[in-house]
This record gives sequence, C-alpha cells and structure tokens, in this order.
Amino acid sequence: MQTIAQSIGGEVITTKLAMKMEDTLQAFAVRAACFMGELEVPFSEEFDGHDFGATHVIAYVGDEPAGTVRVRWFQSFAMPERLAVIQRFRGHSIGHLLLERVRKLAESRGCSTLYAQALPGDVRYWERQGWRRLVAEEAGAGAKRIVAMIKAVDPSKPLPEFEAPEQLSLRHEPQLDASGLPLGTVSN
Ligand SMILES: CC(C)(COP(=O)(O)OP(=O)(O)OC[C@H]1O[C@@H](n2cnc3c(N)ncnc32)[C@H](O)[C@@H]1OP(=O)(O)O)[C@@H](O)C(=O)NCCC(=O)NCCS
Repeated sequence: MQTIAQSIGGEVITTKLAMKMEDTLQAFAVRAACFMGELEVPFSEEFDGHDFGATHVIAYVGDEPAGTVRVRWFQSFAMPERLAVIQRFRGHSIGHLLLERVRKLAESRGCSTLYAQALPGDVRYWERQGWRRLVAEEAGAGAKRIVAMIKAVDPSKPLPEFEAPEQLSLRHEPQLDASGLPLGTVSN
C-alpha cells in the first residue's frame, strides 16, 4: 500500500496493486460504475478478456475503492488503460496518482516506455499528465477512434523510436471452440 500525503474530507488517499481476488473485484466495481454505468460501455467491451493477464492498481479514499487503472505488459512498453475514478471522488488528483503509480511500477520493472490509447476527447487529459501524441492522426472509425499516446518512464531520457501498435487493446480474447482452438481457426 502506498500512502499519499493527500486526503478527501480527512480520509487518506492510498494506492495499491491488486494482490487477491477481492482487490480485483474492487477494481472491476469501479470500472463497472464508470464505464458501464456512466459512459454506457457494453460489458463485452469493458471486460475484454485481458483482465487476468493484467496488473490492476486501485486507489482508495479511506477504505473505499475510488479509482483504478489496469496495466498490460508488452516487450517494449507498458500499457495503462481503463483509467477510472468514481464520480464523487474526481478532481482530487486520484487519476494522476494512479498514472504515477503505474509509471513507478514500470520503472521498477525496467520498462522505459508507457503507451496508451486515448479517445480523442480524453487526449487533453493525458497531455496534462505529461503524455504526448505518438502520431498526429487518429486511428479507427466512428465512436471507436483512438489516439496513440506515449510517455517516457523516465522523463529525463529521450523516448526510443516507437511505432503505434493500434490493434493491441482493440483485440478481444478469442472465443474458444470445444477443442480449445479459437473459433474460426482452420484445424486439420
Ligand atoms: C478521467 C478521470 C480518470 C480523471 O480522474 P480525476 O481523479 O478526476 O483526475 P485528476 O484529479 O488527476 O484530474 C482532474 C482534472 O482533469 C480534468 N479532466 C477530466 N477529464 C478530462 C478530459 N476528458 N479531458 C480533459 N480534462 C479532463 C478535470 O476537469 C480536472 O481539471 P482541473 O484540475 O483543471 O480541475 C475521471 O474523470 C474518470 O474516471 N472519467 C471517466 C472514465 C474515463 O473517461 N476514463 C478515460 C481515461 S482518460
């Protein structure tokens, strides 16, 4: 548990990594409230099959889960996504604290680059957190347009050459057939 010198109504704000199922359920509860409830994201899109291979960071106000972000780990970067803070706790830097916890975690794991995919309307938020656009143009279509964003884990070091891997977070885990192969796979 990491205690931050900050509080809301006398309740201390802390962040921690999910270590057991109950922690993960708290992260899921925050995401369900923010994305499914508030932003009307369908369940199948929000819970895309990548949650059990990811690290979940949770922010608490006192004992109450108030925010979360999940991190997926790739060979050359770490990818924070599903950043969410419960509405009544917003505007107290909890989003910032979660992203900073991710940055420090990536640093401790020897990772040099953070990569994220933001909706166009959220780009300004990421920029205010020290991120920059990786490519000028948006990818995808309609409501699913995304902007590739990047940040160096150590801001004093230059970013390595990096290409936007657009397909990563948009890909759902495949449905498996009875033999355990992804549906649609040609088997012999
Ligand atoms: C985005 C979110 C995580 C920010 O959480 P938070 O704890 O309030 O964030 P912080 O306190 O660190 O920052 C708040 C500031 O960001 C601003 N902000 C919030 N969303 C923003 C957006 N989409 N674009 C630009 N600025 C935004 C707030 O207006 C506030 O500005 P201020 O400091 O000038 O008052 C929260 O609003 C949220 O959960 N939104 C719904 C889920 C979502 O859209 N997630 C996508 C991730 S960007």
